Order: sequence, then C-alpha cells, then structure tokens
Amino acid sequence: MPAYRATAPGKIILFGEHAVVYGQPALAVPVFAVQAQAVASAAPDLPAGEISLRAPAVGLDGVDYRALPADHPLARGVALTLEAVGAATPPAVRLKITSTIPVAAGLGSGAAVTVALVRALSGFLGRPLPDDAVNAIAYEVEKIHHGTPSGIDNTVITYARPVFFVKGQPLEPLRVGAPVTIVIADSGIPAPTAEAVADVRAAFQRDPEGYRALFAAVGDVVNAARQALEQGDVPRLGALMNENHRLLQRMGVSCATLDALVARARDAGAWGAKLSGGGRGGNMIALTPTHGDAAALAAALEAAGAVRTLTTTLSPST
Ligand code: PMV
Repeated sequence: MPAYRATAPGKIILFGEHAVVYGQPALAVPVFAVQAQAVASAAPDLPAGEISLRAPAVGLDGVDYRALPADHPLARGVALTLEAVGAATPPAVRLKITSTIPVAAGLGSGAAVTVALVRALSGFLGRPLPDDAVNAIAYEVEKIHHGTPSGIDNTVITYARPVFFVKGQPLEPLRVGAPVTIVIADSGIPAPTAEAVADVRAAFQRDPEGYRALFAAVGDVVNAARQALEQGDVPRLGALMNENHRLLQRMGVSCATLDALVARARDAGAWGAKLSGGGRGGNMIALTPTHGDAAALAAALEAAGAVRTLTTTLSPST
C-alpha cells in the first residue's frame, strides 16, 4: 500500500467572530502560507488495528491511538475516521502529523490537523472521505478544543476557500472581486478561545438585549462586507473592519495590546484593521492598500510589538 499524504491550510476570520456563535453570519478565508500535513504509511511490523501516531509538536512518538485518552483530539480523529470508513480492524498504519500553523493563535491549527489526519488515514485505507464527512469529523473534534464551536474553523479549512458561514446552514462560497492583501499579526498573548466565548456568553446572559443588538450590528457589518468583497471595494472593506473592531471592543473581547496594534496598522496606512478570532490576545488583521507595501505594514506591526506576521492575498474568484 503506497503512503498517502494530505495537507490542510490555516485560516483567519475576516468578519463576524463571536456573533457567529449566536446565528449571525461570518466571513473566513484559508491561509495557505501555513499548513498542517499528515502522512499515512504501511506498518507491516505492527499488529493489525494499530494506528501509530507520530506528532513531535505534541510529544507523540509512535503511540497507538487506543493508548491515548478517548478525548485526545488525535485519538478521537482517528476513531471517528475508522468508524466513517467502516474499518474496525484496519491494517496497521503509521501516521505522522506535522504543522507550520502557530498553535493557539486563532489560525485554526487544531482543525487543520484533524482535516489532514482524516484525509490521510481514509485515503490510505482506500476510502477517501468526501468533504462533508471530513468536515463533520473535524467539527466533532473541535468540540474537544472549544466546547461550543460555531463550526466556522473546520468549514473554511475543509473546503479551503473563502466562505460566508452561518451556523447550521449549508456552506455559501464567498466571491472575491479584486485581490485583497491582508497582514496577520500575532499579539503574542496566548488566548484560549473557549474562555472568551464563555465570557461573552456570561455577558450576554447579564444583558441579553444589549448583546443581541451588538450581534445584530455585527451581522449587518458582515453582510455589507460580503458585498464590498464581491465588488472589490477595498476601502469600504477597511472601514467595515474598523466598525467590526469597535463592536468587538464593546463585546469586551479586545485588549490594550490588540487595540494598540490595530491603531498602529491604521497609522501605517492600512485601509482598516481589527482583531481576528476569539480575541483578548491572539491575532489581529490589517487590510493593505491595494498598491501599498504589505512588507512595510508588517514591519510597522513587528516594531509595535507583534511577535510574528504573515501576509496572505485573496485572489479574485474565477
Ligand atoms: O479563535 P478562533 O480563530 O478559533 O475563532 C473563534 C471564533 C469564535 O467566533 C469566537 C468562536 C466560534 O466557534 O465561532
């Protein structure tokens, strides 16, 4: 049996984080500059049924998935894949997982690892799963990471294309009318998404009317941003990013460091900027002027304290 290799990109949320958990739409795009990779290969020296995991980043060096706790994300990904392909006792497999996606930074590293793993393992076993099955497994594993995820991360990463996402609804592709370049800057502050999501829920329960209005305002921004993106209206997209950041501040999920990076990006000429993902830390994104210099904007953000920057360009849909 030949080895089978699969990859999956990182992602960023462009608009609509947090409100998406409450049924509002959100926009997300894949980030191909970083990726997770899984390689499945035959292991004739091991007993049938063993799936031996090597994932150096999390300290696994040849561990059978059944020796891990059932709620370990990799073990769960393997178990759900075997169930989906109907292989109760598969031939032994070595499964190596690597990733260049920064962990716990809102770039979707957990979902990307699962998507690559499911594709490599099901492909190796001769039963490559279709995207909707891969997505469903990745969503189940996301629940281990995040508790009550909206599903946006696994969706944008599985389909590897810009998405207009509404929780529980079929995927709507997102058309891009003109090239859009985005600089992603990591604040360096680790920020578990689950905590920010739980805090927003507590605040929503204290003030349901106020938060419902905030979420609805985010929904309006997202719908306007979809239109601006389709029309290739980058200045408008930037103004909407600024508006979305203000709404996220009012939800209580920004922080002084993110606000400072957002302000610095605008001073350096970005069309707009906002935090991206769970907030409180993690990443912010800035929209580069069409003929402007993304490298200069990235350098300005690094000088202002960002620990890492990535640049990604959305290509117009064909
Ligand atoms: O921190 P990230 O990039 O995984 O994004 C979380 C997005 C939230 O809307 C805050 C949560 C969710 O499940 O959609």
